[in-house]
Amino acid sequence: MASHHRFDDITVSDLVAQGSMKWTRNPGHLSAFVAEMDFGTAPVITEALHDAIDKAQLGYLPPGVKSDMAEATSDYLSSHYGWAIPAEQIYPTADVLSAFDLVLARFSTPGSAVILPTPAYMPFLTIGPARGHQVIQVPMIAGPSGRAEMDLEAIGRAFEAGAEVFILCNPHNPLGRVYSQEELEALAVVVETHGGLVFSDEIHAPLTLEGHRHIPYASLSEATANHTLTATSASKAFNIPGLKCAQLIASSAAHQESLREVAFMVSHGSATPGVMANTVAYRAGGPWLADVLGYLDTNRTLLGELLATHIPAMGYTPPEGTYIAWIDANGLPDIKGDRSWAQFFADEAQVGLTDGALCGEAGVGHLRLMLATPGHILEKIILAMAEALKAPSA
Ligand SMILES: Cc1ncc(COP(=O)(O)O)c(C=O)c1O
Repeated sequence: MASHHRFDDITVSDLVAQGSMKWTRNPGHLSAFVAEMDFGTAPVITEALHDAIDKAQLGYLPPGVKSDMAEATSDYLSSHYGWAIPAEQIYPTADVLSAFDLVLARFSTPGSAVILPTPAYMPFLTIGPARGHQVIQVPMIAGPSGRAEMDLEAIGRAFEAGAEVFILCNPHNPLGRVYSQEELEALAVVVETHGGLVFSDEIHAPLTLEGHRHIPYASLSEATANHTLTATSASKAFNIPGLKCAQLIASSAAHQESLREVAFMVSHGSATPGVMANTVAYRAGGPWLADVLGYLDTNRTLLGELLATHIPAMGYTPPEGTYIAWIDANGLPDIKGDRSWAQFFADEAQVGLTDGALCGEAGVGHLRLMLATPGHILEKIILAMAEALKAPSA
């Protein structure tokens, strides 16, 4: 019998009462569509926030709070990944997406194309075009072991067609891949050959799961340090995206110099409590996160078992990192009519999932499901989906 975990005690009513966007957007639905966890956050973070509020530390970002966060991030990157990056090269910023927006504006030619392996995190398909940059989607391909890999030849061709910025997402949303050193080195050769720039989104790095190792792309070599801007945050792993703080890391002297000129703009959107919370997460959140990672490890296997038992036609490879499951629904009998599978399950099962098509053309027929939820809720979700597939009205 599986052992009991305190996260097992969390109920749907608790989550609805807590009032997150995930659990209040569609009342009555079991929600698994947005990258939030159902486990609250680390008590060390809530304590630090209570303390800051009691002291009314709610003003603009004090320099000491800012440098403390940079130090904490630098220490975390060094102790977890062996990446020695000085604190002066780490900037607080509001979030990873605004960091991406700034990188595009500051370091690429207006109108130049952006390369995006797909399926991809949805906003990467829309932010570039909103700023006048075309997105070249490069579908991931099945590698020799069957897992999804980057199509380096197609990426090279996209650079040749004039693209300047390559979006690396590692660990990958939605595929859950944690790229190996060999894969990252092979990518680096292509980028370097074409004089490209990498925006490396490593927001899910602390969520690297058992059996895999996160390697910061910029830490690979002098070449990758020079052609990369990295963004990360404690926001996914500690479930605090509403606190508005991420880190933008300039690993080249040229980028650092350039960012220094706009440091005010880079950091202005970061919220003082968020900067404090990120500092505490990196310094003292380890035990809570280890517990979460253990739970996610169980859940990624549980989801495979639930699908194999109740909806065997769905394809699923457990993620190597993140708490995102990418599910292939193409093997299901086509009973959804004109709807996407996400719409079908929203209508017929009251289950909220992301339509894979929003992740790019390569995502059509797929679903994105968050597995950072108590096991009994994960089971309810899959059972509701299985029932909907059986229902005569379907
Ligand atoms: C890969 C990835 N990048 C960026 C974000 C958004 O991060 P932020 O809220 O810091 O902009 C998410 C959120 O889920 C994500 O999964």
